[in-house]
Amino acid sequence: MRVLGESETKTRDDRPRAAVIGAGHVGAMTALRLAETSLFSRVTLVDIIPGLAAGLALDMWHSASLRGFTTKIEGSTDLSALEGASYIIMTAGRPRQPGMSRTDLTGVNAEIVSGVADGIRRYAPNSVAIVVTNPLEEMTHLMARRTGFPSNRIIGMAGVLDSARFCSLIALEGIARPQDVSAIALGSHGTEMVIPLSLATVRGRPLEELIAKDRLAAIVERARDSGAEVVKLLQKGSAYFSPAESAASMVAAMVKGGSDLIAACVQSAGAYGVEDTRIGLPVRLATDGVKEIVKLPLRPDEQAALAEAARSIAKRISELG
Ligand code: LAC
Repeated sequence: MRVLGESETKTRDDRPRAAVIGAGHVGAMTALRLAETSLFSRVTLVDIIPGLAAGLALDMWHSASLRGFTTKIEGSTDLSALEGASYIIMTAGRPRQPGMSRTDLTGVNAEIVSGVADGIRRYAPNSVAIVVTNPLEEMTHLMARRTGFPSNRIIGMAGVLDSARFCSLIALEGIARPQDVSAIALGSHGTEMVIPLSLATVRGRPLEELIAKDRLAAIVERARDSGAEVVKLLQKGSAYFSPAESAASMVAAMVKGGSDLIAACVQSAGAYGVEDTRIGLPVRLATDGVKEIVKLPLRPDEQAALAEAARSIAKRISELG
């Protein structure tokens, strides 16, 4: 066996860096999922609680030889650790308690997002920011406003999660595997979620031909309320496995060059003829953020529901002040 010299083991690492703000369950799981892809030279987890991010990061890194990943994970209490990160995933904020709506979090989380946005603008001015903190549309808007980033570099994560929840719930009907279901969740990450059934298919077959109308409506409703369903079961805290997987998959797709058609919260800017606001729309991502909003054919009732969602979101955003 030949022993490698130091110069042979240390190769230049030009993989991008990512940072995750907030070392709660969503943040920690997102950091781990990102590290496990080995797409990054480093993932930095940031949290204001002393030792929390560093401890979790060290624990995750201890699993690297077992899992076989090479992305270093580090923790910090300081936003200056964002320096050099190309992708920033914002998860910090209060989660919901049972009985709370996402909108109940607006005041407290707006303060947290504002502070972090200032740090991102200062330390990672060319990064793409992915917002997970709730209420999603309001916090995505706030992140955009406070950073001053162009709209392609501010993306809210929710459509991927809501679409995935719907696909998984359809699979419980026993007609397909989750990954065989194709559907997209638009509108808000909340009561104004719009899942256009005209676009939902199972291996290319229209879902509306496979499941009765009433049953489908019930599944749409369950998907829409899935976050609350988990919160209610947990009694303390909210969902994190599927939100983390959703955020990580978006970032991984960007690093690999771009995503397929997904739903994400973006600036509508005239698309779909809805009020200009931050809303979940079909998009494709590129390495540097949103590449394009994709126009899908919606039925008139679906288009009307999307317009209604945009009006409600725009009103909530205007109330942010
Ligand atoms: C949920 C949180 C992430 O839907 O909003 O579970």
